[in-house]
Amino acid sequence: MFSSYGENAAYAINISTNIIIAQGQTNTIFFILGLILIYFHFAKVLILIKIAQKITLNYVKYSTFAEIISVIYILMIELNKIYKADCITGLKMIDDASIDLIITSPPYNKAGFNGKNKRTKHCIWNKTIDYGGEVDADNMDEAKYEQWQIEFLNECYRVLKRDGSMFYNHKIRVKHNNISHPIEWISQSKFNCRQIITWDRTNSPNQDTCRYVPTTELIFWLTKSNKNPRFKRSPDALFKTDVWRMPPSKQGKHPAPFPIELPDNIIPSVSMGERIIVLDPFMGSGTTAVSAIKNGCDYIGFDLLEEYIDMSNERIRNMEK
Ligand SMILES: C[S@@+](CC[C@H](N)C(=O)[O-])C[C@H]1O[C@@H](n2cnc3c(N)ncnc32)[C@H](O)[C@@H]1O
Repeated sequence: MFSSYGENAAYAINISTNIIIAQGQTNTIFFILGLILIYFHFAKVLILIKIAQKITLNYVKYSTFAEIISVIYILMIELNKIYKADCITGLKMIDDASIDLIITSPPYNKAGFNGKNKRTKHCIWNKTIDYGGEVDADNMDEAKYEQWQIEFLNECYRVLKRDGSMFYNHKIRVKHNNISHPIEWISQSKFNCRQIITWDRTNSPNQDTCRYVPTTELIFWLTKSNKNPRFKRSPDALFKTDVWRMPPSKQGKHPAPFPIELPDNIIPSVSMGERIIVLDPFMGSGTTAVSAIKNGCDYIGFDLLEEYIDMSNERIRNMEK
């Protein structure tokens, strides 16, 4: 039957009150969850945050909780710290367009690409790099590795400021006498490739007689568009051309650090004397952090291995002495 206007109104008020109470309860639960997230140590709640983030982004996009959780993200990531976190999980904690400069070198997936230390009569194919611990990033299925790198690059793209730059160190790998060039997956990411710098390592342990001795790696300068990024080549730059001659450095037990000259040749030209934020999502032995401090900038870093984070923090402490 038809109900009266008064009954309808009362019914409507009743329903909306229930909705408000339900919403109020949901917000309280989310708020308490947020407090718990702040209370616990960052690294230990990564999984919880990931779940909360999924809920936020997928189901309650427009609620106040979405705002609360994004504030928490920003609070969780402090400047001048290296977090024990997976690169992509860590990147997801960083706000859009908040980073000035990314300098990084991922694992190259040598074993996954080539198999471990395969040998023909004249050639030893690339040796694998064992990062130790649980990290098996050098032995992934190659197709998965490239998809991972594309996802990684797109997260870097998101966190980078409009006029920011990313310097992505990788190399041409050879398998069955056929090369694989990183530009193949870089061009599938959102990035614009502005320049390719050649890092001449000056020598190589690979002295196989089946080809010219491979002594180079590449540094891809990536930007968000084809407009000029924040950059003015410093008059003091150690390398002014697109070929940088730097022998590889040794850093304690880390198997693959890049030399400090690499970030040192970038940061002053991008910072131009200002205190910018430099991110390295594969921080390794802390070279990017050391260079950021040396050049008066802030840094953020991620790595999966405690041992390398300790090594980085030790290098940073030694700078202060
Ligand atoms: C090529 S090294 C970086 C070296 C660094 N540029 C330096 O100068 O010491 C790559 C680093 O990535 C770390 N790593 C591997 N997989 C990772 C992941 N999923 N997330 C974060 N770091 C990772 C490894 O532990 C290793 O220290």
